[in-house]
Amino acid sequence: MNFQKIIITSGATKEWIDPVRFISNASSGKMGFHLAEEFKNFSGNLIYIHGSVLEKYSSPKNSKIISVETTEEMLNAIINEITENTLLIMAAAPADFKPKKQSEQKIKKEKENNFFIELEKNPDILLNVKSFVDENKLENVIRVGFAAETENLEFNANSKLKKKGLKYIIGNYVNKSSLGFGEVESSVKIFSSTKLEKEIIDSSKEKIAKEIYHFLSHEFKN
Ligand code: CTP
Repeated sequence: MNFQKIIITSGATKEWIDPVRFISNASSGKMGFHLAEEFKNFSGNLIYIHGSVLEKYSSPKNSKIISVETTEEMLNAIINEITENTLLIMAAAPADFKPKKQSEQKIKKEKENNFFIELEKNPDILLNVKSFVDENKLENVIRVGFAAETENLEFNANSKLKKKGLKYIIGNYVNKSSLGFGEVESSVKIFSSTKLEKEIIDSSKEKIAKEIYHFLSHEFKN
């Protein structure tokens, strides 16, 4: 692979509501970690930017490790690292929304039974990184996304691929009780803008990472 850099993001970001509470999601960091491990023999710079992950998924071999908390911090870390010759694989699950205001003190229970938090949209990292690279150098920045879906995988994954202008998107079903997030087996489909490129069925995340690695190294072989 003739990239100078490969940036792999992993895990969930956190958005604080008050000093003890936050909004996040169930991503464990397992997929991003195993992907980074697969790239350990990559001759350029391998950068692992992780949000909240299980300890065992925090330090893949042979990579520069950057730990972030919020979605904005993840975006900024990527912007600091990205060069005109980078493969960016966004396996992270950044929080899409953050509280409009963060309370400096712990919020006390109100007398009312309902409590409202106003949320505002976080930046979409895959969409935003493009604007930090020179337009004429953009063609050497390759962005690969994941699409975590609970329904209509093919349609939703392809819509995200187009909307975000990605080279590939890796779609999988997620559900808190069984598939996708966390430790368990899962099936994924890799789409390009023209077709379903590859399907990996009922495999561990280690196996899926290996297959994704083989697919990408074949696509970008020198
Ligand atoms: N992503 C991103 N920035 C965000 C949210 C997601 O770059 N603020 C990336 C993820 O890392 C993933 C891809 O976009 O590679 C798709 O993420 P997903 O959560 O499936 O979809 P969203 O774009 O957040 O859309 P929705 O939540 O409406 O499904």
